[in-house]
Amino acid sequence: MLISPSILASDFSRLAEEVKSIENAGADLVHIDVMDGMFVPNITLGAPVIKCLKGKTSLPFDVHLMIEEPIRYIDDFAAAGADIITFHIEAAKDIKATIEKIRSVGCKPAISIKPGTAAEVVFPYLKDLYMVLVMTVEPGFGGQSFMPDTMPKVKMIREEADRVKPDLHIQVDGGIDGNTIHTVTENGADVIVAGSYVFKAEDRSIPIKTLRSAEK
Ligand code: DX5
Ligand code: ZN
Repeated sequence: MLISPSILASDFSRLAEEVKSIENAGADLVHIDVMDGMFVPNITLGAPVIKCLKGKTSLPFDVHLMIEEPIRYIDDFAAAGADIITFHIEAAKDIKATIEKIRSVGCKPAISIKPGTAAEVVFPYLKDLYMVLVMTVEPGFGGQSFMPDTMPKVKMIREEADRVKPDLHIQVDGGIDGNTIHTVTENGADVIVAGSYVFKAEDRSIPIKTLRSAEK
C-alpha cells in the first residue's frame, strides 16, 4: 500500500513544513491537486508552486491534474518535478497521445475517472498505465463524503488489470479515512489519497498508521 496525503488540506502558507511533516510521519508520496477552474469549479496551484516544493522533500510527487486538455502542460509539470502524472480521461481529446507524452518526459502515466464515468473506458489503456485513479468523490474540493457506489468500479478494474497488467496500481481519492479505508482495500485499491483525514490531525503519523493497518 502506498499512502499519498493530499496537500489540498494543508496550510498553504507553510507548504514546505506541511510536506516535511507527512514525510516524517511515514507517507510514501505527496498528492498534489491541480485545478483549473474549467474542468472543475475550483482553482488551486500550478507548476511554479510544485517547482518550489522540489528539494524540500524526498517524497515522490503524485500530481493529479484536474485540467482541460492536460497534454498542453505535461512539459511544465515534468520540469517542475512531477513523478506520477494523472489526468482525467473526461478532459483529454487524445488519450493515447497524452499517455505517450507523459512517458516521453520520464513520468509515470495515470488516468483518473470521475464517479459518473464507467470503469470500462480505461480498459483499452491499462497496459500503458502505471496507475488508474478511481475518484471516490466528485473532483473539485476536499472534505467531501466518500461515495461507496464507486467501489464496484475499483473491483472491475482490479480484475481486468489482473488479466492484462498485474502490476497496475489503483488509487482512490476523496473521503478516505479510518472508516472508509476498509472497503477500498477490500475492493483492490492500493494507493490511498487522504487530505483532511491526514492534515487535520496534529500528529500525522496516527492517521497514516491507521490507513496502513487496513493493508490487504
Ligand atoms: C478532490 C481532490 C482530492 C482531495 C481529497 O478533487 O482530488 O485529492 O484533496 O480530500 P479529502 O481526503 O479531504 O476528501
Ligand atoms: Zn486528488
